[in-house]
Amino acid sequence: MMNRRNKQIVLDELNVKWSARDLPLKSVATQAVPGEGNADADILFVGEGPGKDEDIQGRPFVGAAGKFLTELIEGMGLKREDVFIANMVKHRPPNNRDPVPDELAAYGPWLDEQVSIIEPKLIVTLGRFSMAHFLGDPSTGSGQAAYSISKIHGQPKRNSKGQVIMPMYHPAAALYRGDLRPVLHEDFKRIVKVIELIDNKEPVTEEEAKATEEESTPEEQAVLF
Ligand code: URA
Repeated sequence: MMNRRNKQIVLDELNVKWSARDLPLKSVATQAVPGEGNADADILFVGEGPGKDEDIQGRPFVGAAGKFLTELIEGMGLKREDVFIANMVKHRPPNNRDPVPDELAAYGPWLDEQVSIIEPKLIVTLGRFSMAHFLGDPSTGSGQAAYSISKIHGQPKRNSKGQVIMPMYHPAAALYRGDLRPVLHEDFKRIVKVIELIDNKEPVTEEEAKATEEESTPEEQAVLF
């Protein structure tokens, strides 16, 4: 297990290595936006890709959507510096268009290496692209999400790698759909509870909770009722 300082050193080396590579959006962006925060964070947030402000500053989520993300994090009683914030693609797509499958495939391994260094307890996906990366249906190989955000937002899932993933709406969606603001606030408040369950080695997902219930003996169940 590496401590925070060593994780930061390894993350910095990783970013130098990947920034030197010939990536699909590199030539159209000002600079790479690898991500920032606590290298030993319990919670990793993953957005879509840098926008205009992020491209200029080289930092993730510093524009209007970022302001709302900071508000959501503070609403949980944490600070931005406590968590780690990253994106699927690390260079800004032209005019903020959606990243295409080839781009997602090219930048995906950079993100996966970040995850294996940070070793977060929980990965919170913001929007459909990061949700598809962590919860996509590998059997189709399409990178297409196996779920729809409107159905599973705020509900923790465990993927085939054993990672706990909590899908959320993208904070930018709430900038033009005001009704999503309270939904995001409520979903974010559940993050702290999920971390507690993970720490206490209690069932985290609905499926795990059901399985535990089925496993308990009739005597144990009698105590429950
Ligand atoms: N939207 C994202 O998905 N990422 C950012 O860094 C900023 C806005």
